[in-house]
Amino acid sequence: MPDAALGAVHAACMADIGHDVLGVDVDIEKITALTEGRTPFYEPGLDDVLTRALASGRLRFTTSLREAAAHGEVHFICVGTPQQPGSQAADLRYVDAVVDGLAPHLPASCLVVGKSTVPVGTTARLTSRIADLVRAGVRAEVAWNPEFLREGFAVEDTLHPDRLVVGATSREADETLRRVYAPMLAAGVPYISTDPNTAELVKVAANSFLATKISFINAMAEVCDAAGADVATLADALGHDSRIGRRFLNAGVGFGGGCLPKDIRAFTARAQELGVGAAVAFLDQVDAINQRQRARTVALARQMAGGDLTGRRVTVLGATFKPNSDDVRDSPALAVAAALHREGADVSVHDPEGTANARLAHPELRCSSDLLAACQGAELVLHLTEWSQYRELDPVKLARVVRVPMLIDGRNGLAHTEWQAAGWTVKALGRPT
Ligand code: UGA
Repeated sequence: MPDAALGAVHAACMADIGHDVLGVDVDIEKITALTEGRTPFYEPGLDDVLTRALASGRLRFTTSLREAAAHGEVHFICVGTPQQPGSQAADLRYVDAVVDGLAPHLPASCLVVGKSTVPVGTTARLTSRIADLVRAGVRAEVAWNPEFLREGFAVEDTLHPDRLVVGATSREADETLRRVYAPMLAAGVPYISTDPNTAELVKVAANSFLATKISFINAMAEVCDAAGADVATLADALGHDSRIGRRFLNAGVGFGGGCLPKDIRAFTARAQELGVGAAVAFLDQVDAINQRQRARTVALARQMAGGDLTGRRVTVLGATFKPNSDDVRDSPALAVAAALHREGADVSVHDPEGTANARLAHPELRCSSDLLAACQGAELVLHLTEWSQYRELDPVKLARVVRVPMLIDGRNGLAHTEWQAAGWTVKALGRPT
């Protein structure tokens, strides 16, 4: 999740279940927007919870950590932990800044709870950092309670999580968090109470597993291409085995976003520090397979364009890293669009929600939220983010808008036989043609 999104969702949902919440951010524009009930990013359902929480009087926002210190008995840290520039490791400067800004103002003993995704050992490190900064007589305990929210489903995942994981060193801290989450516990949400190291690891292990599952099926797609087999049928057949499951077995252009790619890299970096790099060396392959899907998609486009993309008019459907989000961080769709542009193609990118962020990230690309305009005169269309409106496209009508009806389904999400019946040449990674 983008940091502000995670914090805003958590703040609004905690107020919604009855707590008196003060949300803090250093960005005055975000705080102003949230105070007025506007969400400065696209997250379905957040507007409603935010409006409800503000109306209840249980939710306010501020830019002052001093005010936050005075307000809370429990302080949640929801800031981002991006990849460090020039390194695989996580950048913990925002987490550290919260602790450094909050600790000296804490008036009494309290609980500081991390929700951000961090390298194992962070709770222990912050525990001594905070102890050095608090006033004499104040005891601030640090616990870790990782979030497992998916973008696009953040409100749903917060109010109805699959599980709650709490890593705390004292019984009091654990009991405090049980009180915070009481409505969820009453609804039967599993609550896993453990030590901080295990809690921190649960999160990175979960994201590593999900990334591995996606790269596994994408590796199978490469084998399918070489062998003339069909990865979609393979995934369906594998998915019927309840030990494997069908979810996260969608082959295509691969995973992106602000979480999975940087989390597997940070995990590798931390494991190396711990002297167990070999144990997670497979994550390098997971990353490499994922990057290869982007290159394979560009190669397929080049091949369909007759070996040279120079001057060819190409439309990319999707800019965000996944649907129901305006997040373009490490987006496979935009990475492919930029690579096609570098090869000389005349690229037009469509996205329903992500064009503003896409333009900031790639000013060289032409981005539009008008689907038909983006497809006008195209010689090749690539479906790279599976927004539902693309599934609803009428291939007969679209064939009249483009110049050459050629499609790469980079998400394996469109009804290929319908498109072929409408005259389209359709190709997809891991699918026979
Ligand atoms: C991910 C995890 O799913 C959340 O549980 C976690 O809390 C979150 O990271 C986080 O660490 O904050 P998210 O990044 O929102 O959530 O997105 P996912 O739904 O996991 O999708 C990640 C990427 O994998 C997307 O680019 C998606 O298109 C791709 N994907 C997903 C596939 O290529 N194939 C699939 O079968 C599934």
